[in-house]
Amino acid sequence: MFDVSYEHFTSRKHTGNVFGGMLALMKRIEAIIKPARLDELQDRLRRAGAQGITVSEVRGFGRTGGKRDAYLGLAHIADFNPKVRIQMMIDDDMVQPIVEAIQAAACTGETGDGKIFVSHVVDAIRIRTGEHGHDAL
Ligand SMILES: Nc1ncnc2c1ncn2[C@@H]1O[C@H](COP(=O)(O)OP(=O)(O)OP(=O)(O)O)[C@@H](O)[C@H]1O
Ligand SMILES: [Mg+2]
Repeated sequence: MFDVSYEHFTSRKHTGNVFGGMLALMKRIEAIIKPARLDELQDRLRRAGAQGITVSEVRGFGRTGGKRDAYLGLAHIADFNPKVRIQMMIDDDMVQPIVEAIQAAACTGETGDGKIFVSHVVDAIRIRTGEHGHDAL
């Protein structure tokens, strides 16, 4: 059912060994942003050519903590703040425009604006058709 042959991974647009070819194809973007920035982000991602997006409501804190580290006088105990997490699997050549779109939409200049994480994607499969990799995005 799954095509994991050498030819499958090396017939793609990037050349190189099997491992390098696979890793060069797609990236996973995970961004944590302020919920109030989601509408603007959706607009910008559409305009940047995003094909698919998964959004979840999450809670978290970063280095600067939640609302108030000093609340109750307890230093270093942070509150969880509501955030929105965006996940996207994209072609390598989309990383720059997508990251720029996210940063432009999500940056208020205040603490808690969030982060963008970029990681390698080994493969993707469209369940309906069995397509792999780039074709499955
Ligand atoms: N290292 C991390 N790993 C996982 N999630 C993180 C990490 N850093 C931040 N986050 C997520 O991003 C959200 C926003 O983080 P935030 O922007 O406050 O980071 P920060 O490091 O405190 O930077 P700033 O100084 O701009 O506030 C957090 O609530 C959390 O959900
Ligand atoms: Mg912070």
